[in-house]
Amino acid sequence: MSEEASPANDAQGAKLGRCVLIGQGYVGLPVAVRAVHAGYDVIGYEVNQAKADGLNAGESHVEDITPEDMAAVLATGRYRATCDPTDLAGFDIAVISVPTPMGEGVPDLSYIESASATLAPHIRKGSTVILESTTYPGTTEELAGPILEAGSGLRAGTDFHLGYSPERIDPGNPTWRLENTPKVVSGVDAESLAAVKGFFDRIVEETVPVSGTREAELTKLLENTFRHVNIALVNELAMFAKDLGIDVWEAIDAASTKPFGYMRFTPGPGVGGHCLPIDPSYLSWQVERSLGQTFRFVELANDVNQHMPDYVIRRVQSLLNDHRKAVNGSRVLVFGFAYKANTSDARETPSRPIVEKLQQLGAHVSLVDPHLVPAQFPTDVARSEGGADDLGNADLVLYLVDHSDFDRELIGAADVPVLDCRRALKGPRVQSL
Ligand SMILES: NC(=O)c1ccc[n+]([C@@H]2O[C@H](COP(=O)([O-])OP(=O)(O)OC[C@H]3O[C@@H](n4cnc5c(N)ncnc54)[C@H](O)[C@@H]3O)[C@@H](O)[C@H]2O)c1
Repeated sequence: MSEEASPANDAQGAKLGRCVLIGQGYVGLPVAVRAVHAGYDVIGYEVNQAKADGLNAGESHVEDITPEDMAAVLATGRYRATCDPTDLAGFDIAVISVPTPMGEGVPDLSYIESASATLAPHIRKGSTVILESTTYPGTTEELAGPILEAGSGLRAGTDFHLGYSPERIDPGNPTWRLENTPKVVSGVDAESLAAVKGFFDRIVEETVPVSGTREAELTKLLENTFRHVNIALVNELAMFAKDLGIDVWEAIDAASTKPFGYMRFTPGPGVGGHCLPIDPSYLSWQVERSLGQTFRFVELANDVNQHMPDYVIRRVQSLLNDHRKAVNGSRVLVFGFAYKANTSDARETPSRPIVEKLQQLGAHVSLVDPHLVPAQFPTDVARSEGGADDLGNADLVLYLVDHSDFDRELIGAADVPVLDCRRALKGPRVQSL
């Protein structure tokens, strides 16, 4: 392959190539920040002008990237966010990290299509394009590749490098961050793999090459389907154990002492975020479409996890009933709305159907979640600080998310029935899910 795009340079302090990140969200922004520190000139390409303006002003909408991180990145003079596609010109490496939602039970790949179409005219001989969005096997070569080729007039693998590298970022996880989590890399041919690996070797501590893009795409879906299925297993077990009068949490704690052959998963009010409620369905959709078969594990896990909010409502009804109260007219103080602890991300959060159902049943819901940005806060729900007075005024406390800044002792000690969906609280009136 001829190398017309400027080659990256490894020398200490020397300029590497020009890198563009398509999509500056939870996945794309951390990669952009690491790329700047690795020495690349980085363009963060966005379709959302407010996001781009905020980033250029040093504001971060992703909690793993602090305003200090943004200040440091901007101070290098090698990062700029933009909505202008002409800024993509002359790139050496492009990473596409755009959303891949489900639309009406079918994977919605329109964001990958439009990002690929925007990028294509700027591909040169020797450029590298890496897809990072989570998607079903075949997307890189069957969908993104042809769009990139058509728009550039160049051939993937012959003229430019093309590969796939799934993101494993876990927002809010202080231990496993982008840089110290091994990253799976792949390419449509050996040269593409080398280019993709070469880029991510500068971004993370360890890369894991696999032989093809489909294997890399499947790796991500396997990881998330594994998690989805195991969460469904403990969720269903929790419901049965409750009816059997057995403490499932104690059994889980005890099982977790086994040093091999067991991995700890805990029950909860349902699954949320961009990954678990969606990614396994990408896989089952593909199995159905390509093989005409049902991926039964995924269907079953969807069924169990999607019904957990209903189960939480039943437990709320039962707990209030124990105190001769109805949901209708009760004051329910809810702790946590984000889909998991210590994140502001409320996409697909199971807290949403729970709060909505409580309101439909006539409850007066107040919500405590210091992590949520105003845009994510449900508009028709009262905000609460969750202090002693708020606890004292509630008929029931519903603990949905275990944010580390919640005062667990105060909540557990409150003289009010508490349904703890995370087994995080201790107190005389606390019931676990
Ligand atoms: N959030 C996670 O924890 C996580 C983890 C692993 C993988 N993923 C996957 O990574 C992908 C991105 O997820 P995310 O959480 O970063 O989403 P996000 O919504 O936070 O960010 C995506 C960004 O892309 C922008 N965008 C959309 N279309 C664009 C286009 N054509 N050109 C440029 N920008 C465009 C959006 O404005 C948005 O800012 C998804 O496939 C997701 O499944 C997410």
